Amino acid sequence: MSDAAATSPNNLDAFWMPFTANRQFKSNPRMLVSAKGMYYKNAEGQSILDGTSGLWCCNAGHGDPRIVNAVSQQIAEMDYAPAFQMGHPKIFELAARVTGMFPSGLDHMFFTNSGSESVDTALKIALAYHRARGDGARTRLIGRERGYHGTGFGGISVGGIVANRRTFGTMLAGVDHLPHTHLPEKNAFSRGQPEHGAELADELERLVTLHDASTIAAVIVEPVAGSTGVILPPKGYLERLREICDKHGILLIFDEVITGFGRLGSPFATEFFGVKPDLVTLAKGLTSGTIPMGGVVCSKGIYDAFMTGPDNMIELFHGYTYSGHPVAAAAALATLDCYKEDGLFERANEIAPYWEDALHSLKDVPHVIDLRNLGLIGAIELEPIPGKPTARAFEAFLKCYEKGLMIRTTGDIIALSPPLIVEKSHIDQIFDTLRTVLKEVA
Ligand SMILES: Cc1ncc(COP(=O)(O)O)c(C=O)c1O
Repeated sequence: MSDAAATSPNNLDAFWMPFTANRQFKSNPRMLVSAKGMYYKNAEGQSILDGTSGLWCCNAGHGDPRIVNAVSQQIAEMDYAPAFQMGHPKIFELAARVTGMFPSGLDHMFFTNSGSESVDTALKIALAYHRARGDGARTRLIGRERGYHGTGFGGISVGGIVANRRTFGTMLAGVDHLPHTHLPEKNAFSRGQPEHGAELADELERLVTLHDASTIAAVIVEPVAGSTGVILPPKGYLERLREICDKHGILLIFDEVITGFGRLGSPFATEFFGVKPDLVTLAKGLTSGTIPMGGVVCSKGIYDAFMTGPDNMIELFHGYTYSGHPVAAAAALATLDCYKEDGLFERANEIAPYWEDALHSLKDVPHVIDLRNLGLIGAIELEPIPGKPTARAFEAFLKCYEKGLMIRTTGDIIALSPPLIVEKSHIDQIFDTLRTVLKEVA
């Protein structure tokens, strides 16, 4: 039996694949069977360079023995501990270590299992916080057009990607949206943060005028939006949002599910942009994608607002069976060790200029209408084929895979986010492959 046959299941039908063209995949499967460092291996034995850290999550690369050992030791020592009214040491250590990576004042952490759960948790904490302070009329949540905040009902309500919303009914009530900040006519081919668009934050003032601040609980944004095809914050935009939120007593939530843990060359976007939110959602890089885990970091003021009433009262009626799972906690602690011991955030920062130059070398390649980057994030926006949106980028995705490179596409945008262990030679491979492929696609 060939290796490929040995590792291929004989029935692909039962598994309903998420965010996937199921019929296209099942007629021509792309089956990954192992991973090490910067590369996957597929069922045919071909090496596939990981240009996307899996799904923006494997920041420490694949198969690091420190994480592998920590997980296997933990599962042998204690596989599970109840999360409600019980604890285990590693999760307290992890909360202290993660909050210790934030500026002081962001001092507490709630655990979840995914980015979507982190978002719903942060929105619920924001609502419950205002109520705990006797300001319970603040029930409105503000998201942003083109925002992606996972797939829970809270996340799709504040999210702004139409395909993720249109088939799922009426969403949460009382949600409004800011405009997105993608201004290709002014900012195309920007290197780093774009110059134009800070004034779009003032749209929050318009929403305050419309709804009144006393009804608004929180604003949630991705400091850098990834899933919608990489949208960068214009210079001054996040600062302005912070100012307006402060002026009106509105909480600011940063969804750092993709920007967290070194993607921008600093621990979090919070530090990178020098803007301090009240709540931060995390997932993905927290365990380098090895074991599902997410979390919400919140300010001392928010936590303290709940710590009232009798000591034996539960303060927040929210949580998950697997909040703070010991195996995930062990994976996260080992992941943080990898980031620190190998200086991966600093590394990302050092190699980012090489990444930027390599990306922008595609400027004159056919179909490319925009290139944008920040930290170890890059996006290539392609001109859509008339009448066939997404087809060109999807063809590029398939052709890259055939040539041993994994990229991600959203609409006609190619998004790139390699593991932070990426070397210059890998960056060359990524962009050489893309240059060839973009000359071949229709
Ligand atoms: C900004 C942001 N928030 C939330 C999520 C959802 O995370 P998950 O897929 O772990 O639920 C994602 C996933 O890509 C994301 O990019």
